[in-house]
Amino acid sequence: MKTYLVTGGAGFIGSNFIIYMLNKYDDIKIINVDKLTYAGNLENLRSVQNNLNYKFVQADICDKESITKLFEENDIDYVVNFAAESHVDRSIREPEVFVKTNVLGTVNLLNAAKNVWETEDGFKEGKKYLQVSTDEVYGSLGETGYFMETTSIDPHSPYSSSKASADLMVKAYYDTYKMPVNITRCSNNYGSYQFPEKLIPLIINNCLNKKVLPVYGDGLNVRDWLYVEDHCKAIDMVINNGRLGEVYNIGGHNERTNIHIVKTIIKYLSENVDNTIKEEFIKYVEDRKGHDRRYGIDPTKIKEELGWEPETTFEAGIEKTIQWYLENKEWMDNINSGEYQNYYNKMYQTK
Ligand code: NAD
Ligand code: TYD
Repeated sequence: MKTYLVTGGAGFIGSNFIIYMLNKYDDIKIINVDKLTYAGNLENLRSVQNNLNYKFVQADICDKESITKLFEENDIDYVVNFAAESHVDRSIREPEVFVKTNVLGTVNLLNAAKNVWETEDGFKEGKKYLQVSTDEVYGSLGETGYFMETTSIDPHSPYSSSKASADLMVKAYYDTYKMPVNITRCSNNYGSYQFPEKLIPLIINNCLNKKVLPVYGDGLNVRDWLYVEDHCKAIDMVINNGRLGEVYNIGGHNERTNIHIVKTIIKYLSENVDNTIKEEFIKYVEDRKGHDRRYGIDPTKIKEELGWEPETTFEAGIEKTIQWYLENKEWMDNINSGEYQNYYNKMYQTK
């Protein structure tokens, strides 16, 4: 029975991953370590909270004592590090916490794992540390070309720079100590339980609440969208079969402009929910500082080595996602009625 330490499991991708894994395997144990920042929400895990193979521990990945204790008290086989500050706009306003959690937190986890996994002549068999990173570490593309694992790192935002720094520390633990690691770099995820500060749930939320739909700059920035369950499947494959020390890009040629995304959501909601939801809600606002123009993943390596391919087209995924938010209004209402509303109002008051 393998034991997974999943960090940040109360966030968007982490909670989807825990649910995916517990549905797929009944012979694994998952310990979810999460600080429960504004982005952490135990509601996401309601469907597994009574599963005997699942345990939640509230802790900060930067906290040496609690993390060391977890490794001492449990025979952890795999670490999957999702825990991070994850929003670019917040990183522009407040970079420090990104360095703390994303860089120092990663180093703390690496150390704690190394301390119990390292033997006199290497590392115990069957252990692995997986760092969940992002394609944003590669910087921005022009109109052509794709990010490959060999593309140089060239991050621009405080968020992507902190993720790139963490990647380099993970690489250093492999290069220096031969610690068993993988790094995955995925494109923009979407799906259930995504916090509504990110583009897709923000637009759905604002449409349903008849609020302005803020589109940064000219709306023609491009992101490569990955349905969250396809991402979870890829991570499972990398843990089990990824070659040690390797980086794997995860994405599936689902590039869309931001304005296309916004109009797709408006059209779906207008046709299926409320025909007063209209494109007139769109407001082009001041561009994000240092806004990366285009992200696009070349997934050849993960496809050829591990046989991973995304199963969900953007058209199918966006419908499933909108439908999920419609069926889980209470989840969004709880977030809307909390501290997030003040943050949102402050953030958008000048836009
Ligand atoms: P999220 O913001 O929804 O969730 C982050 C989780 O980490 C939250 O539950 C939060 O409470 C927890 N956390 C934050 N700081 C912590 C700390 N110091 N200690 C313990 N827990 C802490 O993020 P997400 O969108 O689910 O992203 C998960 C990971 O995937 C991140 O590492 C992110 O960089 C990466 N990623 C995300 C995307 C995306 O599109 N969402 C794309 C590429 C990579
Ligand atoms: P976001 O979801 O924040 O992800 P990331 O910045 O990590 O790619 O943003 C996705 C794209 O949508 C990005 O180009 C910025 C843009 N955007 C808007 O136009 N309006 C918004 O309100 C938000 C949150 C994002």
